[in-house]
Amino acid sequence: MTKTSPPSIIALDGPAASGKSTLGKKLADSLGYLFFDTGVMYRAITWIALQHDMNLRAEAEITGLAQKAQIDIRPPSKNDGRGYDIVIDEKDVTWAMRDGDVDANVSIVSAYAGVRQALSEKQRRIGLRGQVVMVGRDIGTVVLPEADLKVYLDASAEERARRRYEEIITRGDKADYDEILKNVIERDHIDSTRAVAPLRPADDAVILDSDKLDADQVLARVLELCK
Ligand code: CDP
Repeated sequence: MTKTSPPSIIALDGPAASGKSTLGKKLADSLGYLFFDTGVMYRAITWIALQHDMNLRAEAEITGLAQKAQIDIRPPSKNDGRGYDIVIDEKDVTWAMRDGDVDANVSIVSAYAGVRQALSEKQRRIGLRGQVVMVGRDIGTVVLPEADLKVYLDASAEERARRRYEEIITRGDKADYDEILKNVIERDHIDSTRAVAPLRPADDAVILDSDKLDADQVLARVLELCK
């Protein structure tokens, strides 16, 4: 009997806070693959722009920033729930990336065609090396349409906001559920209606609704799909 190997390129897409990063990290660990969270790149550009008081509506300037920004993604230096370190100018900005300010503005930045082009080229180069779980909004549709397995992880906005709320509280930060729910709905709206690479499942994606499944059950389903 021939033993089939697991899919080499795995694309994991879905709306805000649907559990993609948790699943992606666990899945990559179980398969011994690289975990790559593309949302971090859009967040990093947004964070830098906010730090420099740039006008987020100035598309050309923001695009220029995305083309030249040096974002370093390194193995985790701390055991505080992070899957990696995000380093910009030698500063650890891993959690700053998750600030409410970034949440509120990232979808404006990620809608720009030039920003997407600059970042998705880098993502594609890394993805094509294989043995990778790449997480985002457009991985199965645009970045890596040749992915061997595509999963679209969904859940209701209320459940997603609840999970994001728990995640922030567990980290020891303050959170407001209503504010998070509003942001999740707003981001999904902008992400799925933008002209370039909108959020949507690829035609050949397996859609998983995680409303009634916990993280381990979702992982078990996807590992089953990998066989
Ligand atoms: O973790 P969460 O689902 O809240 O967000 P994220 O995956 O870190 O993505 C943050 C934002 O980046 C999204 O709301 C999108 O606007 C953008 N994004 C994107 O446009 N394309 C991707 N491949 C990944 C993220």
